[in-house]
Amino acid sequence: HYSTRNIWCRGGPPCLLVQPKRSDAGEAAEYDPNILDDPQWPCGKHKRVLIFASYMTTVIEYVKPSDLKKDMNETFREKFPHIKLTLSKIRSLKREMRNLSEECNLEPVTVSMAYVYFEKLVLQGKLNKQNRKLCAGACVLLAAKISSDLRKHEVKHLIDKLEERFRFNRRDLIGFEFTVLVALELALYLPENQVLPHYRRLTQQS
Ligand SMILES: *[C@@H]1O[C@H](CO)[C@@H](O)[C@H](O)[C@H]1NC(C)=O
Ligand SMILES: *[C@@H]1O[C@H](CO)[C@@H](O)[C@H](O)[C@H]1NC(C)=O
Repeated sequence: HYSTRNIWCRGGPPCLLVQPKRSDAGEAAEYDPNILDDPQWPCGKHKRVLIFASYMTTVIEYVKPSDLKKDMNETFREKFPHIKLTLSKIRSLKREMRNLSEECNLEPVTVSMAYVYFEKLVLQGKLNKQNRKLCAGACVLLAAKISSDLRKHEVKHLIDKLEERFRFNRRDLIGFEFTVLVALELALYLPENQVLPHYRRLTQQS
């Protein structure tokens, strides 16, 4: 005598995942630092838990990695139709932001702040194919300026690296820095609850 039901990662099927609420003015409501970063999301379809009277079994159905990836992008697109990039693309940009920051000896807290800026822009639907690298670069630069005590030559070195890695030129970057600042409504100092989840993931992964 048993019942089966599907359960999903993180307490609900992807369709229950909270979308950023929009006020009348169209601004994203409360930023959720876990929404784009959850390494298990979206894996919903591939996990099934059978609940028996006295014990519980988890069945992870076999999926080809390529299917999982496809499914992930698709699920993501359904949930966030206003975001023009795939989830894999967003994650790969974040890996580049992290890699570059580490090569420039920026602290994990700086990377975490850059992630928050970046994700806020992503969730606002501001990123597209053309500006994604400039966005990523400007977020790293702003985070570095606000959270580290960089000297002039270190800022220059960082800008060199950004230019090389993301293949834009520094004039575009400097111009875009201001655009990002405005999109973030000048809120570069972030509450701890937005930064900490990223910081924990970054320091635990490495
Ligand atoms: C999922 O995203 C990755 C990376 O952007 C891409 O290579 C792949 O083609 C995408 N798959 C689908 C079905 O969109
Ligand atoms: C950054 O990425 C490059 C190329 O993938 C790799 O060789 C390098 O070790 C990475 N650096 C860090 C700090 O992760």
